[in-house]
Amino acid sequence: VGGWLLPRAFAFLEAFFRETGSAGGAARLAEVRRDIEATGSYRHTPLELEWGARVAWRNSNRCVGRLPWRSLTVFDHRELHEPEEIEGALRDYLRFATNGGVIRPAIAIFPPADPGTGGGIRIWNSKLVRYAGYPGADGRVTGDPAEVDFTRACQALGWRGAEGRFDLLPVVISVPGRAPHWFEWRDDEALQVPLRHPEFPWFAELGLRWYAVPAISDMVLEMGGIEYPAAPFNGWFMGTEIGARNLGDEGRYDLLPEVAERMGLDRGDRSRLWRDRALVELNTAVLWSFQEDGVRITDHHAASREFLHFVEWEARQGRAVQADWSWIVPPLSGSATGVFHREFENRVESPGFFLTRPAWRPVEESPPEARGAECPFHIEARRAREVEDAGEAGVGEGCPLGAGGMVGRGDADPRAGSR
Ligand code: ARG
Repeated sequence: VGGWLLPRAFAFLEAFFRETGSAGGAARLAEVRRDIEATGSYRHTPLELEWGARVAWRNSNRCVGRLPWRSLTVFDHRELHEPEEIEGALRDYLRFATNGGVIRPAIAIFPPADPGTGGGIRIWNSKLVRYAGYPGADGRVTGDPAEVDFTRACQALGWRGAEGRFDLLPVVISVPGRAPHWFEWRDDEALQVPLRHPEFPWFAELGLRWYAVPAISDMVLEMGGIEYPAAPFNGWFMGTEIGARNLGDEGRYDLLPEVAERMGLDRGDRSRLWRDRALVELNTAVLWSFQEDGVRITDHHAASREFLHFVEWEARQGRAVQADWSWIVPPLSGSATGVFHREFENRVESPGFFLTRPAWRPVEESPPEARGAECPFHIEARRAREVEDAGEAGVGEGCPLGAGGMVGRGDADPRAGSR
């Protein structure tokens, strides 16, 4: 293990001491070398952990909202091993992040994976708060089609949903050697916003809603060669994630035809752009409803401006921002935002957030790309590559295919997009 871990650890620690200006770098490097030689691993100090998590956000090539990366609140839960304790910590974490609607970016970090096997504590959910999806006999899904497989996994554990369109899924935690543990959010824990429209009174009748806190819970936080597979993190929403993708995509709630119908648009005439007009009003409803309810949200124009400020700020620190253009440009009105007119380098850096195989899907059933066998976006492939070039240095050497460290849209298939 030490062969590939040591160079990763050293690159991380050197960056930590260089950027933070902390003292004691040489002694710390010597200590970590001894620990890795003696035990095969090492333990981050609380300050290293905090800095590493913040830089993982800074390095998230698909995230347009990285400007406030230094404000990330880090909860160090590395001492928690019991599922019930982890449940309690997740409830505290969501309460802190929600903050009555004034969403605060935060991350809760649970014990690291075994450095040899990569096995460890997992949260099965893709997001801590999400809606169930139930396939009907006719093949149509009630709820969120993106969650059909996970919903089935929850049912196999004994969970029963109300079979509605917006049922909150339970949270499932697995600890090696223990049966999976699940719990449900209480009504006052998972803040949600009922959607209505500033000009269309009928909009509220559609009965749509969305959750307030986007908290990704299925990505692996990697820093200095140590992997934290259970490390859910959140920012606040950009409206298009909900109004364009979650509610608009044909493979998700697919609401454009219904909204267009209610707007009285002619769906027969291609030149009338009914999809585009429905999309704008759906996004208006999302932004307006969140604002009315005092729930923090950004729009794609503000997000694009702030991202360009982030790029400038980073350049002044001597760092070139790495970004995946296809994720940074919003799915609505792309060319009306500044980011559309820019180009970005898209190298994978460490620390970062990486994709991995869903914890609830048996390896045999995962398609090769989701198993991470060949996919450089996956932590499994990263680990294999690192073991292979053990001895050769360089954590930040590029991934030829592009992005890693991902927050935003898309899913296991980097081209797909359903986050
Ligand atoms: N798109 C995901 C969702 O709709 C959330 C991804 C993270 N987004 C964010 N603004 N931090 O749940």
